[in-house]
Amino acid sequence: MSNFLKKESDFSNMVNARLSRRGFLMGTAMAGAGAFLAVNPIAKAIASSMNSSLLNFEAISTSTSDSILLPKGYSSSTLMSWGDPIFANAPQFNPNGQQGSKAQALQFGDNTDGMSIFPLSNDRAILAINNEYTNYEYLFAHEGKAMTADDVLKAQAAVGITIVEIVRKNGQWIMDPAGRVNRRITANTEMLVTGPAAGHDLLKTKADPSGKKVLGTFNNCANGETPWGTYLTCEENFNSFFGSDKEVAVSPDDKRYGIKSEQSKYQWHNFDDRFDVAKNPNEANRFGWVVEIDPNDPTSTPLKRTALGRFKHENAALIVNDDGHVVVYLGDDERGEHIYKFVSKGKYQAGNNAENRNLLEEGTLYVAKFLMKKDKLEGDGEWLELTYGKNGLTKENGFNSQAEVMIFARRAATQVGATTMDRPEWVAVHPDKKHVFCTLTNNKHRGIKEGQDVDAVNPRAQNHYGQIVRWEPTKGDHVSASFQWDLYLIAGNPSVHQGNLYAGSDNINKDNMFNSPDGIGFDKAGRLWIQTDGNYSNKGDFSGQGNNQMLCGDPKTGEVRRFLTGPIGCEITGLTFSDDQKTMFVGVQHPSGHFPAGGNHKPRSTIVMVTKDSGGVIGS
Ligand code: FEO
Ligand code: CA
Ligand code: CA
Ligand code: CA
Repeated sequence: MSNFLKKESDFSNMVNARLSRRGFLMGTAMAGAGAFLAVNPIAKAIASSMNSSLLNFEAISTSTSDSILLPKGYSSSTLMSWGDPIFANAPQFNPNGQQGSKAQALQFGDNTDGMSIFPLSNDRAILAINNEYTNYEYLFAHEGKAMTADDVLKAQAAVGITIVEIVRKNGQWIMDPAGRVNRRITANTEMLVTGPAAGHDLLKTKADPSGKKVLGTFNNCANGETPWGTYLTCEENFNSFFGSDKEVAVSPDDKRYGIKSEQSKYQWHNFDDRFDVAKNPNEANRFGWVVEIDPNDPTSTPLKRTALGRFKHENAALIVNDDGHVVVYLGDDERGEHIYKFVSKGKYQAGNNAENRNLLEEGTLYVAKFLMKKDKLEGDGEWLELTYGKNGLTKENGFNSQAEVMIFARRAATQVGATTMDRPEWVAVHPDKKHVFCTLTNNKHRGIKEGQDVDAVNPRAQNHYGQIVRWEPTKGDHVSASFQWDLYLIAGNPSVHQGNLYAGSDNINKDNMFNSPDGIGFDKAGRLWIQTDGNYSNKGDFSGQGNNQMLCGDPKTGEVRRFLTGPIGCEITGLTFSDDQKTMFVGVQHPSGHFPAGGNHKPRSTIVMVTKDSGGVIGS
């Protein structure tokens, strides 16, 4: 067992701490959904024992204000907002949406999401940031109602990745527009496909008969980083950028990824045939991957890593296993999709980054099957191998190669019997290197749709609050085919619901409740930072939960405290720290009021920096 779980029995004590009698009284909702879980007579509410030594800030209340609120003794400032120039010669931001594609290509992209910091020295670092998608209502004066070819180019330049250098001057980090590595990677940046699907017929297009050269990346949701200094960016809802005016038959595989031959809201296909599924049916197969980028070399070619499978990638949580294999945990954010794990064929060699850089090219992909224990919200689990020729991934079942297994990883996961999950979002590995956490954000289809019955790991029908599952690989070995899991937290609303799981687990109360956990990450001390992307109506089932927010959890005691509340309409997503952990960088995506400038200003997606007024480590 781990450092923070000293004895074997601590694991089940933690489970019981999280899931009190309240947690196990399933109530009618679960019974109606055919749940099999019953009251656990042993589990006791021991919430009063939650006294975290890790969390040394005063929890804040919920908020519906159009600003960032923080605990006493903390302040926030803006690092950069959508449209800020990231090169010395770039035009200043124009708030009226009248700048064209050339300006946007030299400015910070829209909708900041996952980000990683790569320290260069004490006071200089590289920041790589995902720009997930773009808000036409602010990007264009016409709000997307009169699109032109250049508008499409502008939208394509507003997504992707922004890489900048940041410097600390007088204790304050600022972006350096003269930074050596500053770069925009957009929907039109040339990249290479590597791994088992590279060059496969399904990846070939008229413009690229090799099936290996792709233009761009988009819907870059969350991220990861490697110990060899590269940035991982994850392509999530790529399907929303494809469409057609012409109705054509869409294959069941394409349907499962949400590809449609209809007008897409971004309208790229009206001006760029690449995105017209009737004209270029294979183009969509070239998206839905994890892309590896060297942020230190602004001329480097990004690499699409097909060995990590094609789905709606949320983030990529990488850990070097004790034996040197590199393991990457991956969530597929869609109702009823799955959690995956990649294990590299080669081993990490400290000091040999030339070799390490190939580690994500070849390996084995697995998908999680959660096994349920009777009457318990915990259990064992197994990793099912997604290798052509094994586990029914054969010609008879419609798979003709390893490339097809990777391109249609979702279908392969179904074939092997993976557990359908409540929208897996971020995965994070505890600094003890043994415990892995994954947010399951919500799932209105649970208990309703075929194949998505209520089970112990997804224990609520029409789950609109979400939960965080945690697992530990057998013997602490991430290459092991088995694991043990429990639920760290079940979000809920104890003001509205009592006596059933919609009230949440026992570490959720009226003072710290929230819905839809999404971004998560650990700091060096093992605090679990939890960001939300949920319902901020503050009404009905969500009453008292306010705007989207960030909380901090102590994995040992289970205690959760609210640390930050975001402005109106935003989700809080993206999290990284300066090396000394004294500045926290947090993403405020798609605010809809007037953040950050206030007044009558249009809202702008923004990275904020949180510092402690006394200059200490955040959260300490
Ligand atoms: Fe881009 Fe699943 O969040
Ligand atoms: Ca997310
Ligand atoms: Ca989102
Ligand atoms: Ca989300």
